[in-house]
Amino acid sequence: TGAITVAIDGPAAAGKGTLARSLADALGLAYLDTGRLYRATGYSVLQAGGDPSDPAAAEQAARSLDTRVLADPALRSEAAGDAASRVAAIPAVRDALLAFQRQFARTPPDGAWGAVLDGRDIGSVVCPSAPVKLFVTASAETRAQRRFLELRDAGQDVIESRILQDMKARDARDSSRGIAPLVPAADAVVLDTSDLDRTEALAAAFALAGDRL
Ligand code: C5P
Repeated sequence: TGAITVAIDGPAAAGKGTLARSLADALGLAYLDTGRLYRATGYSVLQAGGDPSDPAAAEQAARSLDTRVLADPALRSEAAGDAASRVAAIPAVRDALLAFQRQFARTPPDGAWGAVLDGRDIGSVVCPSAPVKLFVTASAETRAQRRFLELRDAGQDVIESRILQDMKARDARDSSRGIAPLVPAADAVVLDTSDLDRTEALAAAFALAGDRL
């Protein structure tokens, strides 16, 4: 089909989600936060009392994932993020979640003319021929502070130094895994949001990739 895809990748709390949502709103595109698929998979293993690093349990959870759970606020916790990055390193899990993501990009819901997908491997694996690929990043300290404020504002009892530590561990796991590691696609444009607020990040994205939209 002629659906356009905007691929946004990058490490945790770099501002991908906010940017993806604003781009989708500005352009009338559908939006898929692919991290939620991994979070829902990891969380469902935890809920069943299982170990997210166990390939059989994780694959079973991914294959039976009900996309209605994607809106569950519990998926935002760092525990769900940690479980997500464990199931995400298992090839059968990534394989099970691939078809849904590609289908969303190819045939976006509600007749949208395209979709914005954000994650870790959208430009490199899920939608390698996307005409627009952004790799959104920011310093680890900036990212930890953003995640801290977000979780605190959501009423969670969190410690910033602990978040920085957990986030570095999760980034290391995502970057070093054998399958679909977190790396910018060769043709991705890198956008560092450390010193940008959400409006500035949206303007920068348009400046960098607007001619391809
Ligand atoms: O983006 P978010 O922090 O919600 O993602 C949670 C975890 O899911 C990431 O740390 C990563 O391990 C995994 N993930 C992935 N590929 C994606 C999206 C998320 O491996 N496309």
